[in-house]
Amino acid sequence: MRVIFLLFLMFSLGCEKIEKIFLEEDILDRPPSKRCSECHTKIYSQWKDSRHSVAWISEDFIKKTENRTKTKCLSCHAPLEVKAVKKPELRNKLREEGVNCFSCHYRGDTNSIHGPYRVFSPPHYSTYDPDYISSKICAGCHEKTYLKWKESGSVKNCQDCHMPAKKERLIQKFPFTYFHSKKNLHNHSFPSLKADEKDFLINFSIKQNFILMKIKNIKIPHTIPTSQQGSPKYYITITGYKHNKKILEERFMLTPKNGLEPKKWKSFDLFVDDKPNKISIKIDRKLSWSKKKEEILKKDFYFD
Ligand code: HEC
Ligand code: HEC
Ligand code: HEC
Ligand code: HEC
Ligand code: HEC
Repeated sequence: MRVIFLLFLMFSLGCEKIEKIFLEEDILDRPPSKRCSECHTKIYSQWKDSRHSVAWISEDFIKKTENRTKTKCLSCHAPLEVKAVKKPELRNKLREEGVNCFSCHYRGDTNSIHGPYRVFSPPHYSTYDPDYISSKICAGCHEKTYLKWKESGSVKNCQDCHMPAKKERLIQKFPFTYFHSKKNLHNHSFPSLKADEKDFLINFSIKQNFILMKIKNIKIPHTIPTSQQGSPKYYITITGYKHNKKILEERFMLTPKNGLEPKKWKSFDLFVDDKPNKISIKIDRKLSWSKKKEEILKKDFYFD
């Protein structure tokens, strides 16, 4: 039915005019993200749950920028336009929306919405832009993380992990939903993710009263923890036992400056009076914006 309707329109008007019929011009006039949600309902609710939507109103951000008076801090938290590998400029309107739909997708030079697809007759002009399937689109703001990622030579880009895809319709507005095929919808909650045991190799070598512990980040293609400006932390607790008696307890704190770089061993020196027969290691993390500590791994190693 809809195919017949569209064919009818195409014959009577020509494709170009069809594009125009459906245009709703206010969409390209810097609307609030709520406007996008009239059609992109799912993506909007994911974005609402993301850290990008609170980048301007986050308590810590307000505190550390002395009530947003440190001007060099502001532009990535309320950008005007996002371009590949370029630090954005600060926008004037709707700053409370942080990194919002329009800023991440609209480009003034083409006066259109940029995205990863060649789409048919959306109600806003749109441009297929391969930068959207590249880590470069994240790089202007997540610069430090991006540089480490690039160095690692990873074949997976930021979106592969932080915007996992599911085949769905991109819009949820009746009846238009059914004029468009399902495509990969990339999760716009931008999950922070969480490392687990499979992401690390850990080994020990014990020589008399000296223990060398080494940890390697084998899977995550950037330093962990990683950050542009925040202060996420990893806490490593090592406990040594000799026949169930605790003979060693050491804690280390890792920050983005001394964190676990991709595919590199990091060494920790430990001294003991006696050789342990069991060592337990526990790793926890705290994200920049969270007060909560979360467990990453807990593992026991036995020695004879
Ligand atoms: C931080 C930047 C960023 C923000 C904010 C953002 N997007 Fe996206 N969006 C992207 C990227 C990158 C892709 C392409 C992902 C891919 O193909 O790997 C994308 C893809 C899309 C697509 C194509 C379907 C898909 O999921 O690939 C639509 C539609 C879309 N975004 C709409 C929105 C809407 C609506 C909002 C606000 C509710 C929004 N975006 C907020 C970066 C962003
Ligand atoms: C009235 C409905 C409607 C509104 C409002 C709307 N869009 Fe869309 N948008 C569409 C349709 C339809 C498509 C094409 C979907 C398809 O082909 O599956 C689309 C496609 C897109 C794409 C993919 C473009 C590409 O080239 O990959 C992006 C990104 C996007 N919209 C962003 C936005 C943003 C940002 C807003 C708000 C500023 C917005 N849209 C508002 C209907 C809408
Ligand atoms: C315009 C700048 C900008 C762009 C572009 C951008 N981000 Fe962000 N991103 C931020 C800011 C600012 C925050 C922190 C918001 C907060 O917590 O207050 C953030 C937070 C995040 C977080 C959560 C980090 C945490 O500590 O939990 C993830 C994950 C993330 N971004 C992934 C991405 C990915 C993937 C892309 C590219 C598709 C991207 N971002 C593009 C500015 C940006
Ligand atoms: C192979 C998957 C993968 C890729 C590719 C990837 N990340 Fe991550 N990222 C992770 C995992 C897993 C974590 C959670 C680490 C942890 O336990 O804290 C993470 C954490 C983060 C965090 C939260 C802060 C932190 O240290 O936990 C940010 C921000 C981030 N990544 C940004 C990016 C950006 C930007 C890119 C692209 C340049 C990228 N990531 C590429 C898997 C990935
Ligand atoms: C180049 C872009 C950029 C600039 C400039 C920038 N930030 Fe951010 N900021 C980010 C990104 C990206 C994140 C996401 C998480 C991460 O990687 O730390 C972030 C996260 C944060 C966080 C942790 C999240 C939260 O809401 O608690 C705080 C606090 C913060 N920034 C404060 C600042 C301050 C203070 C300045 C100025 C000294 C600043 N930012 C300048 C990009 C930027």
